[in-house]
Amino acid sequence: MNLTDIPALRRYWYPLCREADLDNGPLAQRLLGVDLVLWKSDDGKPNAVRDRCPHRTAKLSRGFVENGAIVCGYHGWAFDGAGKCLKIPQRADPAATGKMRVDAFHAKTYGGHVWVALENPVEDIPVFAEDGDPAWRRIPEFVENWACSALRVMENEFDNAHIEYVHQATFGNTRDPIPAENEIEEFAGGFVARAVVRAANRKIGADYTGATGDLTTRTTVHRYWFPFLRKLELTFPNGLCHRIVTATVPVDDAHTRLVQWVYRNDTDADVPAEKAIAFDRAVTLEDKDILEATDPYVPLRDYMTAERHMPSDKPGLIMRRMLVAAADAG
Ligand code: FES
Ligand SMILES: [Fe+2]
Repeated sequence: MNLTDIPALRRYWYPLCREADLDNGPLAQRLLGVDLVLWKSDDGKPNAVRDRCPHRTAKLSRGFVENGAIVCGYHGWAFDGAGKCLKIPQRADPAATGKMRVDAFHAKTYGGHVWVALENPVEDIPVFAEDGDPAWRRIPEFVENWACSALRVMENEFDNAHIEYVHQATFGNTRDPIPAENEIEEFAGGFVARAVVRAANRKIGADYTGATGDLTTRTTVHRYWFPFLRKLELTFPNGLCHRIVTATVPVDDAHTRLVQWVYRNDTDADVPAEKAIAFDRAVTLEDKDILEATDPYVPLRDYMTAERHMPSDKPGLIMRRMLVAAADAG
């Protein structure tokens, strides 16, 4: 069983791009193996329909936006955000036009990003209390595709054992491989993992936290929302909070769209956004390098036996268990 074999995953919201990415016309995306075209209507609302014209299959993303509709670049058929054909330039009869449709999906903006659900969502997007609160700034970080499984990326986020080895140039390599233990509390639809993580404090990290000394700690409150969303709340010893929202969106079974932004309770004068981003950039590229060297197939039904595990793998095992339960529920 692969991720794209689980129909329940179609009923969740996934961020695919930043709002501003739709300012210059239609954008092609893929979600759970489904090719989509996203665009913005004249009122600024995002739309998502299948990226395949019902006339001769041309990709609608190769077309253009006119009067808020997506227009196919091949023969000019136009569709609205509900998938309804508004215009067939070659036919005067509006009845013929009205019968043509393209599959349409749910789309909305939140947290500066455009989110899509392929079917009626069973959960709303979690509310991030920092969003819009003047005590916090929101810094967009990454929107990019990785050549690996979305599940492996999300499991990795909660894996304290890899830090020492993978993050050698950033906050790992402290000469102590014993990982911080996650204290896990499950809730309906996810879990919270709490830990105090030891971290090397190299220049790149000191730039980002303002902490001094060779070694520091991060108190972490780390929420996971099924299936591919997390929020990592990091508190540094000086009281600075750096809260990372990451979605590891399944583009298909072998590709992930990594979408990440942060909330911080400091100002650009304290730590410039570029420095906050620079540390997370270095960390995520260390992760990407090793994750793209893993098998895109992740065992699900036989997850307890098909790979070997250790105690620090527990968060990922909960995710696998939840995926199997979702597949069984239909
Ligand atoms: S293929 Fe799109 S209008 Fe002909
Ligand atoms: Fe990592």
